[in-house]
Amino acid sequence: MDEQRQAAVPGAIAAVLGWPVAHSLSPKLHGFWLREQNLDGSYLGLPVAPDAFEAGVRGLVATGFRGVNVTVPHKLAALQIADAVDAAAQAIGAVNTLVFGDDGRILGRNTDAYGFLNNLTDAGVDVAAGPAMIIGAGGAARAAVHALLSAGCPRLYLTNRTPEKAVGLREGMADDRIHVLPFNTLNSLPDDIVLLGNTTSLGMAGKGTLDVTLTGLPSDAWVHDIVYVPLETPLLRAARRLGLRTVDGLGMLLHQAVPAFEAFFGRQVTVSDALRNHVLGRE
Ligand code: ATR
Repeated sequence: MDEQRQAAVPGAIAAVLGWPVAHSLSPKLHGFWLREQNLDGSYLGLPVAPDAFEAGVRGLVATGFRGVNVTVPHKLAALQIADAVDAAAQAIGAVNTLVFGDDGRILGRNTDAYGFLNNLTDAGVDVAAGPAMIIGAGGAARAAVHALLSAGCPRLYLTNRTPEKAVGLREGMADDRIHVLPFNTLNSLPDDIVLLGNTTSLGMAGKGTLDVTLTGLPSDAWVHDIVYVPLETPLLRAARRLGLRTVDGLGMLLHQAVPAFEAFFGRQVTVSDALRNHVLGRE
């Protein structure tokens, strides 16, 4: 038996908690890794209403679950229920993964920033090479900003429809590399950025589209969209048509699950084309 096999927990059970949860791709992607690793663990999607969250989590701890991922609307409640949180969760102010210790203690982690960063670096983006611009100031933006600053981004332009929220994000992060710009900057983008990233829900199927003029970007800039339904958003399509390099949002979902799988099931896993195709239903 190798070391990884010894670390794997036979019959381990984990889940994603959401309200609703049926749309979550997490059971599909963790299920892929369980089969790939030939493990007998399980990963479930559990619908848990907001007022049942705390009792639900305590019940899962008592029944021996290894931990849970949490999605909308539980990320703040997850922060509150945790006995301890990691540095990323602390900085972002939200928890997306609860890991249950053998002693019943609950560790809160945030792997969204890890997922955001690894999706970009996997695609070939060097986030330390120059300034980035992030659109949005919600929870996803906080994860993106934390990821970029932690990875050495030298200057970060932030813009949001409601400027006060961008200012609040800058003050919360207390990092003078963040510069808040007016929302109409989207029509005259800074010409020195290596990465433009959308963290709003604009561009998602059924939502409005983002009004951005990409022509001012350097020809070697990257454009990233956190939205992955559709996989190619109007923003990414416009960027591709201009010859700019693009990174879609599905990779963030896949990468944020890697540390959670390792914590729940004790095996190291990777994001492969086979995983991506499985999650997209393309096999
Ligand atoms: P999440 O946690 O997924 O980031 P959120 O906290 O609700 O979700 O944040 C949503 C982001 O999308 C915000 O930056 C929001 O801008 P406001 O702060 O001005 O609300 C942005 N957003 C949503 N709809 C938008 C729209 N129609 N135009 C511009 N920005 C929009």
